[in-house]
Amino acid sequence: MKIFLDTANVDQIKEIAGWGILDGVTTNPTLIAKEGRDFREVVTQICSIVDGPISAEAVSMTAVGIMEEARELTKIHPNVNIKIPIMPEGLKAIAMCKKEGIKTNATLIFSSNQALLAAKAGASFVSPFIGRLDNNGQVGMEVIESTVTMFENYNLDTEIIVASVRSPLHVIDSAMIGAHICTIPYAIIKKMVTHPLTDVGIKSFLADWEKVPK
Ligand code: E4P
Repeated sequence: MKIFLDTANVDQIKEIAGWGILDGVTTNPTLIAKEGRDFREVVTQICSIVDGPISAEAVSMTAVGIMEEARELTKIHPNVNIKIPIMPEGLKAIAMCKKEGIKTNATLIFSSNQALLAAKAGASFVSPFIGRLDNNGQVGMEVIESTVTMFENYNLDTEIIVASVRSPLHVIDSAMIGAHICTIPYAIIKKMVTHPLTDVGIKSFLADWEKVPK
């Protein structure tokens, strides 16, 4: 499973990219707003750090407007894909992007039907939002399960990005189900690398090493 970081913070991206495990980055308007910096400047900087798909979200509500944004944003770097909300105008824009060779990430997906339509329109990625579904009293991971099955049944080449991840368990479940990608917030990826028994083990190995005659 590919690992993406769900952030627009370049310090976090640099740190995690340094671990040698980072395959891409997803941003959204909220994450960009948190940084208080120019959108294009942030995306350009992320592209210089990570050699993989970088999602930048369009905010127009019409296909024509989304296309204008998509053409501009993809000038930044060939790795930029355009996040487009699932809606009728979004589907139109996804199909138009496909024709122009622009990669897209259908976002704000909350059902496998939405994922299926986005894939049919030619989305490169679909992003079901698991945590927000869980918060709403639905089991988010069920959408991942059914979407994986649907895409496998018809050999669709759209990749599934598990988004709105809230815990390390979401990452394990995503990998067990066979999702292509999990986009993980910084705080969660930091939790994934640690375990109290690892800390205890390192401490005791280092203490014992001091006893070795040198
Ligand atoms: C995905 O691409 C989104 O940026 C993100 O996962 C949304 O997650 P949230 O529900 O934590 O805002």
